[in-house]
Order: sequence, then structure tokens, then C-alpha cells
Amino acid sequence: MKFFIDTANLDQIREAQDLGVLDGVTTNPSLMAKEGIKGEDNIKNHYKTICDIVDGDVSAEVIATDFDGIVKEGEALAALHEQIVVKVPMIKDGIKAIKYFSDKGIRTNCTLVFSPGQALLAAKAGATYVSPFIGRLDDISTDGVELIRQIADMYNYYGFETEVLAASIRHTMHIIQCVEAGADVATCPLNAILGLLKHPLTDAGLEKFLADYKKLNG
Ligand code: E4P
Repeated sequence: MKFFIDTANLDQIREAQDLGVLDGVTTNPSLMAKEGIKGEDNIKNHYKTICDIVDGDVSAEVIATDFDGIVKEGEALAALHEQIVVKVPMIKDGIKAIKYFSDKGIRTNCTLVFSPGQALLAAKAGATYVSPFIGRLDDISTDGVELIRQIADMYNYYGFETEVLAASIRHTMHIIQCVEAGADVATCPLNAILGLLKHPLTDAGLEKFLADYKKLNG
């Protein structure tokens, strides 16, 4: 199971990288806007800075929605750094572009996936990653984790190489549920990753160990 951090915030990316368990980063236009990153040059520089901080894959999303525009933007993003994965929306021209990128050896992340049928198309087109959005499904009373299970089963059954990247993760329990459902990757907010550390028995146990040590050693 790989861990990506789902943010464009450099401090949070550094904190997750320092933990030593980070495998990559995902961003999207909303996350970039949240950090106030605007203008083509600033956006590209921000992606390069993220690549310098982390060792793994960095998803950079295209804005274009037509085939030619997606290809032009995606090729420019991929040229920025070898760690860049071009993030492409699950639309008709997006699927055509993913196939084009796949044939050219450019890695892709098919985003905004909400059904097994969409995930099937992404895999057939040769996407490196498929990003089902589990939190947004939960928001509309639909089981997001179940979608992860369905896609993982389908990919295993047919031997698709596309990795299931569970996205739109909102809390720590989502990560555990995605592990059980067979996700290859979970992209998470920093707090959800840090939540994995927590257990009251760990805190109580450590407190006792340290107190016992102190009794004898001062
Ligand atoms: C990451 O690839 C997705 O864009 C992100 O996880 C979406 O998360 P949200 O549904 O919390 O906006």
C-alpha cells in the first residue's frame, strides 16, 4: 500500500516526507488555488518544488478539456520532471488523451472517477493510476469504499496494471477501509496519515514504561 499526500501545501508535504513513509503527492486545481498558486510559471515552479521535496510520483492536473489541449498541457507538465504524473479528468477526450500518453510512455492519473465503468475505461486506455473519489461518494449517501473494492476486484480479475489510487479520503478510518478493499495507493490529507499513529494503549504503555524507568534511574 503506497501513501500519497493530497495537498499542494509545501509545509505539509515536507512534514509527511520527514516521516519517511511518503510515496508521492497528488494535487488538483482546487488544492493549488487553496495555496494561492496562480499563473503558468508559478504553477510549474510549484510542481518542480514538490518534486524536489519528495522521492515519488507527483500528480499534476491539466485544465484543458479537449484532446489537443490536454495533450499539449500534459506533455508540458510531464517535461517538467520525471516524477510528474499527468492527471486527466474522466471525460471522453480525457480517455483519448490517456491512451495517447500511454502509447508515448507518459504516466497518467485518471481523476474524478465515480463508477466501475469509468474505471474500466481508464484501465483500457492505459492509465497508470485511477482515482475513485470515495469521500465525495460518501457525501451523497453512496458507499465510496465499496467502489474501491469493485475496481480492485475487476482489475485483479482481468490483470489490468492500472493502480487503484483511493482519493477524496477524509479521515483515518477511510485509509484502513481502503487497505481492506484492496487499494494500491491512498492519497490522504496529512491529518488522516497522522491519525494512524494514535492509540490510547500506546500512550498509556509508553507512560508506564517511562515512569518505571524513572523510578529506578531518576
Ligand atoms: C486527489 O487526487 C483528489 O483530487 C482529491 O483527493 C479530492 O479530494 P476532495 O474530494 O476532498 O476534494
